Parts: sequence; C-alpha cells; structure tokens
Amino acid sequence: MPANIVVGTQWGDEGKGKIIDIISSRADVVVRSQGGNNAGHTVVNNGEVYKLHLIPSGILYKDTLCLIGAGVVLDPKDFIGELDSLESRGISTVNLKIDPRAHVVMPWHITLDGLSETFRGGKDIGTTKRGIGPTYMDKYERCGIRMYDLVHPDVLAEKIQSTGKLKNKIITEVYNGEAYDLDKVTAEYIEYGKRLAPYVDDVSVLTFDAEKAGKTIMFEGAQATLLDIDFGTYPYVTSSHPLSAGVCVGTGVGPKVITNIIGVAKAYTTRVGKGPFPTELDDEIGKKIRETGGEFGTTTGRPRRTGWFDAVIVRHSVRVNGLDSLAINKLDTLANLDTLKICVAYKKPDGTVTENFPPVLEELDGCTPVYEEFEGFTEDISKCTSFDELPENCKKYITRLEELVGCHVSMVGIGPDRSQILER
Ligand code: IMP
Repeated sequence: MPANIVVGTQWGDEGKGKIIDIISSRADVVVRSQGGNNAGHTVVNNGEVYKLHLIPSGILYKDTLCLIGAGVVLDPKDFIGELDSLESRGISTVNLKIDPRAHVVMPWHITLDGLSETFRGGKDIGTTKRGIGPTYMDKYERCGIRMYDLVHPDVLAEKIQSTGKLKNKIITEVYNGEAYDLDKVTAEYIEYGKRLAPYVDDVSVLTFDAEKAGKTIMFEGAQATLLDIDFGTYPYVTSSHPLSAGVCVGTGVGPKVITNIIGVAKAYTTRVGKGPFPTELDDEIGKKIRETGGEFGTTTGRPRRTGWFDAVIVRHSVRVNGLDSLAINKLDTLANLDTLKICVAYKKPDGTVTENFPPVLEELDGCTPVYEEFEGFTEDISKCTSFDELPENCKKYITRLEELVGCHVSMVGIGPDRSQILER
C-alpha cells in the first residue's frame, strides 16, 4: 500500500500543511519523524483554522493513527497545550502515539537556545528559540532525556539531577544566567509524564505493522530541504534532517517501505531567520508578495523574507530528496504583478554560470541570480476547478518551472482552503 512522504523543498512554510492534510484525509496512518515545535502547520478545514506544531495533521480525522517518531524532539509543556486546545474543539487525541526514544525538550534547552543566539551577536542563526538545537546537541552528546524517562518518575528524577547540574553550570558560569531549581523541574516534569504516559508506544513497530497490514501511510515532513543540517544553507539551518531520507531514521522504518515522495514549493520563495537568499526581493514587489500571501511565521509571527521562485534550489531538492512529483502552492499570490521571474541559474563572481546549488555558503557568496521573465496575470484564479481553466500565463509559468526543476508538478494551490488545489 502507498507510503507517501511530503517534504518541503525550499526554506519551510511552503504550505505543506495543506498538501499533508489532503493526503492525510486519505491515509490510515500519519507519521512525524523529525524536528519539534519549531514547525508550524496551518490547516484550514471547512473554514476552521488549526495551527499545529507537533501533532500530526491526521489528528483531524478520527480514525487516523497519528505517530510521533524517535527523531522528533518534544516539548511536553507545549505539546500538552496543543492536546488541550484540540480536545477543547472536540478533536479526540486517543489515536496519537509517541515513540519512547523521542527526546524531550527541557527548560534549559530553551534557555540555552536564547543565550547562545545572544552570544553569537550579529552572527545569530535566527532560531525559533524553542530549544531545538540544544536538545539535539544533548541527543548526540548522549546525555538527553527521552520520552521513556519522562514517563518513569524515578528514571526522570535521576536524569534531571545528573544532566541538570551540568546545564546549570553552563548557564551560570559561561553565560551568567540563572540556575534552574532541579527539584522544581522534576516535580513539574513528573506531572507532564503522568499526562503523556498513555501516549507512549513503539512507533517503529506500529509503522511496520501498519505497512504489513496494507494500510496507507503518510510521513509528514517538518521544516524543509534548505534547512537540513547537511544539505541546507549551513549554519543557517535547523538541527535535524528534514530530507525524505530523514523519515526512515526518524521513524525506524526501512527505505523500501516508501513508495512516493512529494515535494512542496511555493510559486515564489520565502525564508524566516537569517542566512543567504539569492532571489530575495527587498522592495515593493517583495512587500506586496508578503502582504498578499500573508507571509508571517506560524510559530513566531515573524515577517517572512520574500523573493522570486528559485529553480536552482528546487532542482537541488528534487535531487537530494528523490522527488516523484511537486506541489506548487500559492500561485494566486502572484496575481497582478506585471512581470514574473524565475531564477534559472546562478552567475558566480568569476563570471561562470552554474545550475547546481553551491554546497557551502562561501561558494554561494557573490552568486547572482540569472532570471527568465514571464508575463504576469490579473485574473482571479481562486475559483478555477482544473489546471486547464487557468489563464495561459499561469500555465506557461508552471510548465516552464516544471521543465527547469526536472520534476512533474502534480498539484497547484490557488487559495488557502483544502478545496483550492488543482490536481493534475
Ligand atoms: P531552529 O530550528 O529553531 O533551531 O531554527 C533554525 C532555523 O530554522 C531558523 O532560521 C528558523 O527560522 C528555521 N526554521 C525552523 N523551523 C522552521 C519551520 O518550520 N519553518 C521555517 N523555518 C523554520
């Protein structure tokens, strides 16, 4: 049975939530495999807006099994808030499971995220300050606290004492910050553990069994390719692997389970946080795209930086993710611009041209976009019901984009609602 992966192909916020929601309405199991509450999915369903950070969007369907894999980092306080908010709106969370191996975001991770960003001065990464990087640091340092520990008070108390002491030392002696009262933290987190204990189960086994039973599975990506710790714009990246390959290690399934990989992009580009952005529009057009497209972060509310569609970036994503098809969102946002541009290649400082995304920032530095121009469109496309109904200029734009990135465009988004998607 199909096992789809949905991944972001740019710097996140491509509208994955909507594509994921469409696919999860057809899936028996929805799995999240990396990242934490740095992510934000907005799903609009029957006019109701749901903002999800950690809980898979399959939760909106009462029979869908929703799984949070070992590769996720989970802030229990925030997570319980999300559970409460869904339950208060009549959405049941009984079908939700969290892997015991998933790491827990502790309060000192959030503090250290903020302190190290401040310490970097003007060279900060622009993180979401949700403690994501420091939690993954502890995971790889092998001193992290996991979901299993959270729901076993004795283990938790012991781990908080051992790791907390070191964290307090770093906070106070390196950063001159304030130490945590470890007994207080223990008491608070034991309560979170009690609340979350019924949700803990082996997600690798559940996913394997679902696949064997012929269920339809969807792996929902968080963040995006250019934020991948290895294949993104390091160091302006997140601390996990949002690539399609990250799904296997983050869930505990073999790659042969995957049958289809869908990339999501916007018809233009956005980015939050710092770091390079070759097609950025720091002008009236960029502002217009931001306002028309409502480009403000779901998690932090920060205004997103905006720019033209960059085929170099999406071509890189097609390759590193092994994409089978692409969904292009928010084409409607580009209405009423006289000219549309797509970046087809980069011109390097030595005058040579490359179609491949440079592997390191030092090589990206000084590259300027080479654009192809297209006539804009003024029609309201939000009510089109098929790709053929789109204005000629829209069709030309999408068809050329498809050629440039080397991947079939199977869906085109023309508005925020779940129904406003043209499937090809
Ligand atoms: P962190 O993940 O909070 O450590 O932030 C690292 C970088 O990833 C920052 O530039 C964030 O803005 C960016 N980032 C993290 N999660 C998302 C997301 O879901 N969408 C867009 N950008 C994100």
